[in-house]
Amino acid sequence: MKNIYSNIIRFNNFSLKKILQNLKSNKILGLPTETVYGLGGNAYSKNAINKIYKLKKRPKSNPLIIHYYDYKSAERDVYTSEEFFKLYRKVCPGPLTFIMKRKLNSKVCSLATSKLKTIAIRFPKNKIIRKILKKLSFPLAMPSANLSRSISPVSALDVFDEFGKKVDLIVDGGKTKIGVESTVIDLTNKIKILRPGFVDRNFISKTLNKRVTNIRKIKYLKSPGMMKTHYSPGIPVKLNQKNISRGCALITFGKSVKNKKHTFNLSRNSNLNEAAKNLYKILRIIKKKGYKKIHVVKIPNFGLGVAINDRLKHAANLK
Ligand code: TXA
Ligand code: MG
Repeated sequence: MKNIYSNIIRFNNFSLKKILQNLKSNKILGLPTETVYGLGGNAYSKNAINKIYKLKKRPKSNPLIIHYYDYKSAERDVYTSEEFFKLYRKVCPGPLTFIMKRKLNSKVCSLATSKLKTIAIRFPKNKIIRKILKKLSFPLAMPSANLSRSISPVSALDVFDEFGKKVDLIVDGGKTKIGVESTVIDLTNKIKILRPGFVDRNFISKTLNKRVTNIRKIKYLKSPGMMKTHYSPGIPVKLNQKNISRGCALITFGKSVKNKKHTFNLSRNSNLNEAAKNLYKILRIIKKKGYKKIHVVKIPNFGLGVAINDRLKHAANLK
């Protein structure tokens, strides 16, 4: 029987060679990170970057995150700072993206950064992606591996679900550890969190010994990924609900609720880390089962709960 998933490959020394060859010839690959799967391509190549935008159907005004092995390789493209190193030492490699000033002689394709004077840089923690980055002479532009506005992928099959064979290779690294995208922090001006994630505001504030603000409403396109109807399952989502009507799925958290059949629990033990890990998986399952709408119970708004609520508000078109 023909294997329809033939572009999904395991990671080993043999496939590593093939992965590197593909990236060097400007192919776009589905790759695992500790947060969500990404669509990776050579950040120095206009050809590769064009392919990423086309595949994702992403507006060119929405810049990509550039992924590096370590700060030394990033210093070719951006100016680092004391604040950067304070955070880098504590969390990198890890789920934190820094908006930094771009160096004039940076080779990052200007299309990847929407011609901005800044670059979003990240040092992912997943073992596979680190082995790949270590062997490359260029960084990887890598947005989440989903169609623009759709649900982010947390497994190789999710990437296949989004793109099928349009992506040459999808490297299977199992289920992602964290399940929601990295925290995005702007270090170019007054320090601001543009997208909440695993690394939370308190931690950043304490590490820098500084007040850090959360951006709530984006009046201008500072981080265009925060535009409306992002992370969307394509059906109406209503927050802070307790009950459901016909054709509706209920996403719950903690103690189980009566109507078990149409109920999807993010975490029975009220564990926010587990809930973040399950969020996109559950949204994808509900979408596939053909429900007409989604109700979500109130989710605590601390720790990873802030990131979960942020994604849910986007999905509900409230942000
Ligand atoms: O966890 C993650 O960050 C994943 C994995 C694959 O690394 N990547 C990811 O990329 O979430 P993406 O493209 O889905 O989200 C990138 C976010 C967008 O909201 C984008 O607008 C913002 O980062 N961004 C990128 N460059 C920026 C810049 N120069 N200034 C402000 N925001 C920027
Ligand atoms: Mg995304």
